Amino acid sequence: MVKVTRGMAAIGLAVLAVALGFAAVVIFLERGSGERVGGVPDIGGPFALVDHGGRAVTHDSWPGQHLLIYFGYSFCPDVCPTELQIMSVALDELGSDAAQVQPLFITVDPERDTVAAMADYVAAFHPRLVGLTGSDEQIRAAAKVYRVFFARGEGEDYLVDHSSFVYLMSPEGRLLTYFPPASDPATMADRIAELL
Ligand code: NI
Repeated sequence: MVKVTRGMAAIGLAVLAVALGFAAVVIFLERGSGERVGGVPDIGGPFALVDHGGRAVTHDSWPGQHLLIYFGYSFCPDVCPTELQIMSVALDELGSDAAQVQPLFITVDPERDTVAAMADYVAAFHPRLVGLTGSDEQIRAAAKVYRVFFARGEGEDYLVDHSSFVYLMSPEGRLLTYFPPASDPATMADRIAELL
């Protein structure tokens, strides 16, 4: 018999927790709210936030544009920078079509992601990337309509656990598709080009 140590049990539980979390997000995304458009879940809707220039913006602030939206936070050690890099490369691969796409990075950590912090952070990725922050209430409301899960960790240098999908919205505010974490940028660009 294998003796199960407390450490092994803890690791097992941690792995299980991550697996269940992932499954929950996938189920959440797949389930939609009942209404589906061409097999795509009904995700997305109105939001009111503040851009990295300090201007109040809403979902209607980029008329005629497709929105490419990612939720995360600037202190994220690896996942968010990777995803923002993928979005940036995909935008560049789109060439002139990129003019029809407005990339948005919405923070799930408004306490640290102030307007100034967002301005610094988005500049490191793509000149067209707009960072959005807001009050706790505004962020929670935006995350809710995009069904983004997030949970703040403990301590001073806390991490924020969050779901990680890139959403492509039509100019009318309809979800056209979403990309799972670590998507290939060229594939992302091709798919976006098909849907523009
Ligand atoms: Ni992250």
